Amino acid sequence: MSDKMVKELNGLVADFTVFYQKMRHYHWNVKGKQFFQLHALFEGIYDEVNEVIDELAERVVALGGTPLHTLAMVMDEASISEDSEIPDGVKMVKRTAADLETLSSALDNAIEVAEAEGDRTTVNLLDGMRDGLQGRLWMIKAWQS
Ligand SMILES: [Fe+2]
Repeated sequence: MSDKMVKELNGLVADFTVFYQKMRHYHWNVKGKQFFQLHALFEGIYDEVNEVIDELAERVVALGGTPLHTLAMVMDEASISEDSEIPDGVKMVKRTAADLETLSSALDNAIEVAEAEGDRTTVNLLDGMRDGLQGRLWMIKAWQS
């Protein structure tokens, strides 16, 4: 088992879990004239992220590790922060874009580790996730401009 790879993947489990909850928060609490768009946007993101977390955690298991499984563990490891505020819709989108950039960089780091370990399966898995995030970022930037 590669401890280093497992640690990287668990760091991603933590970051995506915090982000998942933030997208649910925004989905529930968004208000205003853009409600319908943003309510649906945040739901679309957390549905995708739900799959991502599951695939990351199951890759940890496949590598012989144990995925983070309590919220306390998640909060200990996460580099994405929660949002205790209820910002307006435009700020929610801005904060979502910033988190997507952070998550994309975190995936880049994990891809480098997987490449160094010669772990093609993990590289392919993470590459696909990175593509998904970049697609979301493109749409959000188009919406903002
Ligand atoms: Fe809902």
